Amino acid sequence: MLESSFDNLASIEHPEYLLEKMQPFLELMVYYHCAMLEIKTKLEVLDKGLALRSSRNPFESIKCRLKSPRSIVEKLRRKGYPLNIGSIEENLNDIAGVRVICSFPDDIYDLADSLCAQDDIKVLSRKDYIRDPKPNGYRSLHLVLQIPIFLSDGKKEMRVEVQFRTIAMDFWASLEHKVKYKKDIQNPDQVAEELHQCAEAISQLDQRMQDIRNNIA
Ligand code: GTP
Ligand code: MG
Repeated sequence: MLESSFDNLASIEHPEYLLEKMQPFLELMVYYHCAMLEIKTKLEVLDKGLALRSSRNPFESIKCRLKSPRSIVEKLRRKGYPLNIGSIEENLNDIAGVRVICSFPDDIYDLADSLCAQDDIKVLSRKDYIRDPKPNGYRSLHLVLQIPIFLSDGKKEMRVEVQFRTIAMDFWASLEHKVKYKKDIQNPDQVAEELHQCAEAISQLDQRMQDIRNNIA
């Protein structure tokens, strides 16, 4: 579907034809958007509940994003998957992405456990890069969740990738992401080593801040 939408440039001169071709893709993106909003609302409800009971807010901020059409096509191509609508749903888990930024590591696990325990959510995968950091030092908890959205003609199960990290881990990941895509770095090994050391320092700092909070709670 995607491929056939782009292969015929002449279709640009026939907007109705192009719109008709794009319709299933645009609908799918709306479904992913709805699923992302469902997850965001669930997290906000959990936040309000915890704030009432323990006067603390488990997350600092939530960021939502839908993968762009260009990134979707690039990822399907890179991984050798077919370029069609069914393939997007079957093979990609991160079309809808929610990033939850917490102050303290314990809040990450409390929030993630409460979310996963909800009976309309199915956990498709859980990768704990906080307990087992990536070799470069990357730390975050990644979940792929399946959640139903309710449409006028029935319900549809959608996948959403949820990443949990602390403020400090998020700070690190943004810089590391910039470094990864920068082509003209003079001393890449030294920068990688420096980043790795920062990741370790951040992890220790997060734990110390957590200990202080536990002591005053
Ligand atoms: P993808 O094919 O990229 O989705 O990888 P994957 O299926 O192995 O998933 P993984 O859980 O490892 O990573 C998913 C997402 O986490 C990425 O798209 C990034 O947003 C983030 N991520 C993973 N590793 C790193 C890293 O080393 N640095 C940074 N900055 N982000 C990372
Ligand atoms: Mg990804």
